[in-house]
Amino acid sequence: MNAPSLDMAAAEALFAFWRDAGVDACFEAEPVDRTVFVAPVAAKGPATITPLRAPGAPPSVDEAAVEARRLAATATTLDELAEAVAAFEGCPLRAMGARQSVFARGNPQGSLMIVGEGPGAEEDVRGQPFVGQAGQLLDRILTAAGLLDEAFLTNTVFWKTPGNRTPTPQEQAVCAPFLERALALLKPKAVLLVGAAAAKAVLKTDDGIMRTRGQWREWRLSEDGIAAPVMATLHPAFLLRQPQAKGLVWKDILDLSARLRGEVVEPGA
Ligand code: URA
Repeated sequence: MNAPSLDMAAAEALFAFWRDAGVDACFEAEPVDRTVFVAPVAAKGPATITPLRAPGAPPSVDEAAVEARRLAATATTLDELAEAVAAFEGCPLRAMGARQSVFARGNPQGSLMIVGEGPGAEEDVRGQPFVGQAGQLLDRILTAAGLLDEAFLTNTVFWKTPGNRTPTPQEQAVCAPFLERALALLKPKAVLLVGAAAAKAVLKTDDGIMRTRGQWREWRLSEDGIAAPVMATLHPAFLLRQPQAKGLVWKDILDLSARLRGEVVEPGA
């Protein structure tokens, strides 16, 4: 076998350096800060018509969310919703190195909806959420609680983020109509949010996960009035780094399990 040329070895070393620094995708020659909204330049002169957006510019968050809501509403089953997500072109993450959309896995008739942050590298390759190391730990926790067969797992965004960074609130807002439609179609008895990014997006709070975890709230959709009890807990990826926090998650899971078994009396019932 020929030894790699010096140039090839240098290129491989450079790629390894970038990968270790968290750069796992190349999608533009120049970096683009997509968290900054660039307003169209105001037209000069007497013209009174201003373009809604510069030609070729990506849709605004609001425009993309409107399109997402329109597409999501056409889905009458969770399978159709997965197809609608795959067809949706308005999420900026699509063009940031993701291989495919990653919508959901699990029981489409289950009583438990689980919402994570977003797919990682392993999920991006396999097209299913929570199949990497953290997902495997989550499966073990759910199995131990007897809840795995009840679970339908999805995320706040459906494309992997570059370098596995936290999705921005804008990316989550664009994907939210699909997540809300999933809630409306599944009608779970309870929802578990795993990790700070999911908790902040769904509970619409800036509070940290240590403050929000373990508390029941109501997730109510404004459009059709569908609602479900929702609780946040720590992310399994955090547990891989801090195994001593597993007790807190187990406490939350037992609470969740009691609610799913109907052992919790709703106020006013
Ligand atoms: N982490 C998440 O939040 N979601 C996944 O699908 C995988 C890892």
